[in-house]
Amino acid sequence: MTAKECIVGRRSIRRFTDQPVSHELLEQIVETASYAPSWKNTQITRYIAVEGEMKEKLAACTKIWAGNGAIMNNAPMVIALTVVKGRSGYERDGSFSTGKGDGWQMFDAGVASEAFCLAAFEQGLGTVIMGLYDEEDIVELLGIPNEQELVALIAVGYPDQSPEAPKRKSVSDLLSYQK
Ligand SMILES: Cc1cc2nc3c(=O)[nH]c(=O)nc-3n(C[C@H](O)[C@H](O)[C@H](O)COP(=O)(O)O)c2cc1C
Repeated sequence: MTAKECIVGRRSIRRFTDQPVSHELLEQIVETASYAPSWKNTQITRYIAVEGEMKEKLAACTKIWAGNGAIMNNAPMVIALTVVKGRSGYERDGSFSTGKGDGWQMFDAGVASEAFCLAAFEQGLGTVIMGLYDEEDIVELLGIPNEQELVALIAVGYPDQSPEAPKRKSVSDLLSYQK
């Protein structure tokens, strides 16, 4: 699979087969995703793999949008993606490096998430990044420490659907030049 085939072919998958995701395969995918770039190579992204009864409890933390609860109930595994706070975008003395404040930690998490989803796709797995969930309830349920921030949930499993790509904007909408 070429990089282009991987980037263009990946879709958000919301329906999965019953086939479990092996821990060995997940570990390979996280190892691949660890090569994502990050602020000063701070590597702040963490992956919590949630399965079984804990996943059922996680799926219930979707009062904000029950659609994501249905996706999680259907998926064999959900990744809770967190970042270690206070490193990406920060100087050693704790001050911000730029005017974007702590925004770089979300940037790093986004870069790592895409790397994770592409690495999973290359291994035949489907993923969907989910931003709608009851954050406080999940932080408590999973015992996410104060030093970390929950950034997103990613459902993972073998696809039971092959959706068309949602329409993309044209290059002329996306790209401009300046001289
Ligand atoms: C930050 C972010 C949050 C998202 N949140 C959700 C979500 O809560 N539920 C969902 O079903 N899809 C969610 N998505 C998936 C997008 O809807 C999807 O990426 C987009 O429609 C393009 O489709 P594609 O991923 O198949 O190319 C999210 C994607 C991103 C990047």
